[in-house]
Amino acid sequence: MKITQRISPQPETGDHAILFGVFSGDTLNDTGRQIDALLNGQLQRLLETGDFRAEPSQLITLYSQTNQPVIIAGLGEKDRFNKGIYQDATTKAVRQAGCLSVRKAECLMPLINQDAIPEKRLAQLAAIAAHNGAYQYTATRTVRDEDKIDLDQVTITVRQDCENCVRQGDAIGIGMTQARELGNLPPNICNPAYLAAKAEEITSQYANTRHRVLNQDELEEMGMGALLAVGQGSANDSKIVVLEYNGGGDAKPYALVGKGVTFDSGGISLKPGLNMDEMKYDMMGAGSVIGAFITAAELQLPINLVVVVPTVENMPDGRAYRPGDVITSYSGKTIEVLNTDAEGRLILCDALTYAQEFQPQVIVDVATLTGACVVALGHVTSAVMSNRDELAAQLMASGQAVYDRTWHMPLYDEYKQQLKTNFADIKNIGGMPAGSITAAAFLEEFIEEDQPWAHLDIAGVAWRKKEEGATGRVVPLLTQFLIDQSENAG
Ligand code: BES
Ligand code: MN
Ligand code: ZN
Repeated sequence: MKITQRISPQPETGDHAILFGVFSGDTLNDTGRQIDALLNGQLQRLLETGDFRAEPSQLITLYSQTNQPVIIAGLGEKDRFNKGIYQDATTKAVRQAGCLSVRKAECLMPLINQDAIPEKRLAQLAAIAAHNGAYQYTATRTVRDEDKIDLDQVTITVRQDCENCVRQGDAIGIGMTQARELGNLPPNICNPAYLAAKAEEITSQYANTRHRVLNQDELEEMGMGALLAVGQGSANDSKIVVLEYNGGGDAKPYALVGKGVTFDSGGISLKPGLNMDEMKYDMMGAGSVIGAFITAAELQLPINLVVVVPTVENMPDGRAYRPGDVITSYSGKTIEVLNTDAEGRLILCDALTYAQEFQPQVIVDVATLTGACVVALGHVTSAVMSNRDELAAQLMASGQAVYDRTWHMPLYDEYKQQLKTNFADIKNIGGMPAGSITAAAFLEEFIEEDQPWAHLDIAGVAWRKKEEGATGRVVPLLTQFLIDQSENAG
C-alpha cells in the first residue's frame, strides 16, 4: 500500500473515500464545512439532531452527491482528545474504507479542529494508522473477495509540509505490518528456520544491510549452553539470526536483541492448556526488533544497527532440559534451571553476551518475558528496566511521542538476592515477588558495567486478544527512539 502526502486545506473529489474526524459538541471547521457541502449538509444535520454524536470509536459512512464515500470518525469531546483516540479513530476509518469498493482513500484527519497535538505528529500517526487499519491476516485462511480489506493508496492531507513525518509513519507502519504477520503466523510455520529465511529476504531487499545465521552446530562450538538447553527438546534446530544495517559510517552501532521463542509450551514445566496456542507470539521480541530493522532500513537512518535474534522452540521431550539442570552460559556463568518455563532469559543471556561483542553504544532487548508484566501493566503499557535511568527516560519519551507507551520499573540491587542459589552462579527464577523485575535482574547479570542497556518486557502489549492478534508493538517506540537518537546526535 502506497502512502503519500497532499498539502491542501480541503478535500479532493474523485474515486476515493474521504476520511475525516469530528468532535462531539463542536462546530465544523473550514475542512468540515467543505466536506459537509459535498454531503449536501447531511453531516451538519446528523450532528444537530444528535443522530451522530461523534463519540470516540463511532464511525459513519455517508455518500456525497456524486456517490463518493465519506467516512466520519467520532473523536469525542475536544478537551479529552489525545493520541490514543486519534490513532483508534484513524485506524477504524481506514479499515472501513478498506471494506468498501474503492481502492484509494484520502485521510484528512490531520486537518481536524484542534491544537493539542502538532500537525506533524498527526500526520505521522495517520500514516501508521493507515497501515494498521489496512492490515488483515490472510496467510493461512481463505477470505472471500467481499471480505477482503484492500486499499492501494492512502493520501494523508495536511496544511503544512509533513513529508518527513509521513515517511517515518509509513516506514513504521511497514515494520509493524511485518512484525504483526510474524506474530500471527502459526508456530508450525514461523519457526527458527523461518525467521532465518526472513532475515535473508529482508537483507536482499534493502541497501546497506546484511545478515548472518549462526546454526546450532556453531552455537555448540561457541558454547552457548543456555540458549541450546532451551531448544534441546525441540525437533527444530536453535539459531541466532543477526541483521546488520550500516548507515552511520564507523559509529558504534545500536544493538536490538529480541526474544525469538517461536513456541513456548513451558517445556517440562509444561504450561496449562488454556490459551497455550497464544504462545506462538512468544517470538514478538524478535518480531519487534526485525520490524524496527525494516523501518530503519526503509528510512536509511544515519545510524548503524545490529539486530540479534536468538530463536528456539521450548518443548517437552526425552531430550528436553529439566528443572534441576545446571547449564553453562556463553559468558561462562553457570545457571541452575528451576523452571523450564523461564526460558526467555536463558536464550537472551547468551544473545546479550554475544551482542556486546559488537561494542554497541546502547543495547535494548525486547521480550515477551513475564506473565507478571501482564498482571502489572495489562495490554496497555510495556515495562522498561535499565542499568541507566537516563536511557529508560529516553525510551519512555520516544514511546510517549508515538503513543507506544512504556513505563520505568526499578532495578535495584536488592532484587538480585532473589536469584541466589547454592548450586550455581545464579538461578533462573526469583519466586513470586516482582517477577518482571527479577527477570530483568537476571539479564543484567550478563551486562558489563560500562554497557548502557535497557530491557523492554512486551508480554502484555505484543498481543491483545485472538480477534486482533499481534499488535506490532513496540516497533513504533523502538524506531522513534532510533530517530530521536540520530537527530540528537546531529
Ligand atoms: N513467554 C512467557 C511469558 C508470557 C506470559 C508472555 C504470558 C506472554 C503472555 C515466559 O516464557 C514465561 O513462561 N514466564 C514465566 C516465568 C516464571 C516461570 C518465572 C511466567 O511468567 O509465568
Ligand atoms: Mn516460558
Ligand atoms: Zn516464553
